[in-house]
Amino acid sequence: MSTNKESNESHRLAASDDLEVSAYLEIAKEKSGQSPVPYPPSRLERESVIVIDFGSQYSRLIARRVRESKVYCEILPHDSTWDSVKDLNPKGIILSGGPASVYDDDAPMAPSWVYESGLPVLGICYGMQVLVHQLGGKVAPSAHREYGHASLAQSGPGEPLFEGLPSSMPVWMSHGDRIVEQPPGFTALAHTENSPIAATGNGKGMLGIQFHPEVAHTPDGKALLDNFVHEICGCGSLWTPANFVVESIEKIKKQVGDGKVICALSGGVDSAVAATLVHRAVGDQLTCIFVDNGLMRREEPERILETFRTYLKAKLVFTQSSEQFLRGLKGVTDPEEKRRVIGETFIKVFDEHAKSAGHVDFLTQGTLYPDVIESKTADSGVSAKIKTHHNVGGLPKDMTLTLVEPLRYLFKDEVREVGLQLGLPEAMVYRQPFPGPGLAIRIMGEVTVERLETLRSADWIVMDEIKGNDLYREMWQSFAVLTDVHTVGVSGDYRTYGNVVAIRAVTSDEAMTADWARLPYQVLARISSRIVNEVPDINRVVYDITSKPPGTIEWE
Ligand code: XMP
Repeated sequence: MSTNKESNESHRLAASDDLEVSAYLEIAKEKSGQSPVPYPPSRLERESVIVIDFGSQYSRLIARRVRESKVYCEILPHDSTWDSVKDLNPKGIILSGGPASVYDDDAPMAPSWVYESGLPVLGICYGMQVLVHQLGGKVAPSAHREYGHASLAQSGPGEPLFEGLPSSMPVWMSHGDRIVEQPPGFTALAHTENSPIAATGNGKGMLGIQFHPEVAHTPDGKALLDNFVHEICGCGSLWTPANFVVESIEKIKKQVGDGKVICALSGGVDSAVAATLVHRAVGDQLTCIFVDNGLMRREEPERILETFRTYLKAKLVFTQSSEQFLRGLKGVTDPEEKRRVIGETFIKVFDEHAKSAGHVDFLTQGTLYPDVIESKTADSGVSAKIKTHHNVGGLPKDMTLTLVEPLRYLFKDEVREVGLQLGLPEAMVYRQPFPGPGLAIRIMGEVTVERLETLRSADWIVMDEIKGNDLYREMWQSFAVLTDVHTVGVSGDYRTYGNVVAIRAVTSDEAMTADWARLPYQVLARISSRIVNEVPDINRVVYDITSKPPGTIEWE
């Protein structure tokens, strides 16, 4: 494992499983000396609700909840201009929570257009304090920091935000400051034991709530957000996979015209869905390339190929390049060096085979919305946690390509729904993310054919048991890691000295954070006894009980 956390982090991917492809693009961009022209957004421009981000770890959850209400929602930095927003045709604005206090010197505020637009505004937690502060009310530090569960009581009936909700309901609080004086024209709509003004409104669509409706600890929060977007903002239910597919195909057609597109398929759901959309839009103008790098799980390249041939029907170039990758990895033990070698080799192979498509104008990749949010909020300086995903490899020769990124505004769950809508099989749509460098970063030390085989056998058993016990879809990822640790064991009457395999199974929200899965003991027991019995050279199995942070999902 790398001891250099920074450099280790900088090569990791948060949301999309297509790292090599993005690496390729980063380089293509550098080569052309200009930013790739972004794909005309796959937004439903008919209407949206905007989240103004003040750096809350929950902003993304707000957007997801709104989208679950079938309303398109985008997260924008707090310093966005109206010009950058108006094309989204916003019908309402949500001010997110955040770590600041409105009286901090550099406390982020909402831009004035938020209040001048005449659109309904819902401030959540810090967002409520911002709204109150900017509209002439008063916020002050609370004697009691309120963190955790609280009981919210409505002040009276008739508030559309609480329509259909119980008059008293559990909510999740997380704040230090509180409202002590409401802005002119505002009245308290609800209170908790510690917050006499836990919700406020002016009867004209300006609303603030001190609690977090987006988290699971506020069970009625989803219904409340539903009220905001449908009853108060008047949005319809347009954000559906079917609508997305139709509009996305239209936009790809417009962008690509009669140009030629190339796409690297990784076997993951993101590139598969992106390629399928592009294929529906421009048919044979698309060529897909699938590189077998020899670092995949057992039987995986065959299965992936079969699925592509059956479902994708696009022109497909397949290359079996295991030897080339393994040659490059000979003697390499450092994780970042492994990534570099794999990245470079990938680009070489990809470049070579891309030529078979002739002249190419566009490159499709499965960038997802969490990656986009990260770079946007990074620019606005309010987000504490930023990752970059550049996997620096070698330079392709003369390629300058424009990006086609049809999934740029989707969360992973939405990509899966779109995949199903497009008729892709469940096995592909619900495939767990798999890193581009594959098993190479799950083998501590040198990657050899023999060690790959050992890991594949152990990994196969993990998968078999996870799937056999119906746990696959509950896990974000579940896999085996081959360590370079040897321990003493006993087998029959003999002393053994074999390798340790670690099992990693995590639940996660888009890989930014993860928790180790509480796998049932009997499943762990079967995995362990099968591995030590069926896989030569392994005499010990351990279970990784580290969450992320401080751990990462992969061991390298
Ligand atoms: P970590 O280990 O950073 O992983 O918690 C987060 C997610 O990213 C995947 N991952 C990678 N994917 N190339 C990839 O394409 C990489 O080098 C890489 N490293 C980590 C990991 O499997 C998890 O889903």
